[in-house]
Amino acid sequence: MADKVMVVGNWKANGTLQDLERWAAGFDPSGADAVLCVPHPYLSQATRLLDGKAEVGAQDVAGHGPGSHTGDTTAGMAADCGASFAIVGHSERRAKGEDDQLVRAKVEQAMEAGLHPILCVGESLDDREAGDLRKVLQAQVQAALSGLQEADAMTVAYEPVWAIGTGVAATEKQAAESCRMTRELALECLAGARIKVLYGGSVNASNAVGFVGSEGIDGLLVGGASLEGETFSQICAASAKAV
Ligand code: PGA
Repeated sequence: MADKVMVVGNWKANGTLQDLERWAAGFDPSGADAVLCVPHPYLSQATRLLDGKAEVGAQDVAGHGPGSHTGDTTAGMAADCGASFAIVGHSERRAKGEDDQLVRAKVEQAMEAGLHPILCVGESLDDREAGDLRKVLQAQVQAALSGLQEADAMTVAYEPVWAIGTGVAATEKQAAESCRMTRELALECLAGARIKVLYGGSVNASNAVGFVGSEGIDGLLVGGASLEGETFSQICAASAKAV
C-alpha cells in the first residue's frame, strides 16, 4: 500500500495558546499524515491537544546538546515536550546566518534525540536565474546528509526561497523537477534510504492537489495556510484524495 501523503504545517512565530486550542478542536487530518510545527513554548500543549490527530514538530533545534547556551532549545528538550519531528535549515533561519555546517549539526542532534528531521533546502531567485539550481541543492543536501550514520529514512522539503510567503508558488512542473532532483541528491548521500520529498512555498487549499498529484512529491510543507485549522484540514483532505 502506498504511504499516506505527509502534510506539515509551520506556524513560524505566530499564534497563541488560545489559537492552538481552537485549531486543535477543529482540525481533521482526513487521511493525511499531518504534522504541526509550533513555536517551542507550545510544544507540550500541542502534543496534548493533537493526540491522535497530528504529530507535533519543532521549527528548529540547537546544533548542540545541553550546556551554556542561553535561549537555545535542544533537540532532547523538544522531544521531551512530545515533538517527534524537527524542521532543520529553514530558509528563514539560513537567512539569519545559519550555514550548512550548523544545519548538519542540527540534523545530527535531532536524530540523536529520536526526532525525524525535516531538512529544508531551496534556491534563491538569483540562483535559479543564474542556472545554479542543481549546484545549490547539491551543496545543501550533501552538507546535511552525506555520510550520515544510521539514517534509513529522511524527509527533505524542497522550498524555493522565492516562493516562501510570497503568494507566488512554483509551478507544478518546477516543483516536480526540483523535488526529483532533491530526491536524487539525497539518495546519492543515503543510498537505499526511504526518502520523502515535500514541496513548500505558498501552498494553499487550491494549489495543494496539483503538487501532491505530481510524480515524486510525497507531501507538503505549509506556512501561512496552516494557521487556520479549517484551511489546513482542507489541504490535508485534498492532498489525501489526490494521491
Ligand atoms: P508559506 O511558507 O507556505 O507561507 O509560503 C512555507 C514555509 O516557510 O515553510
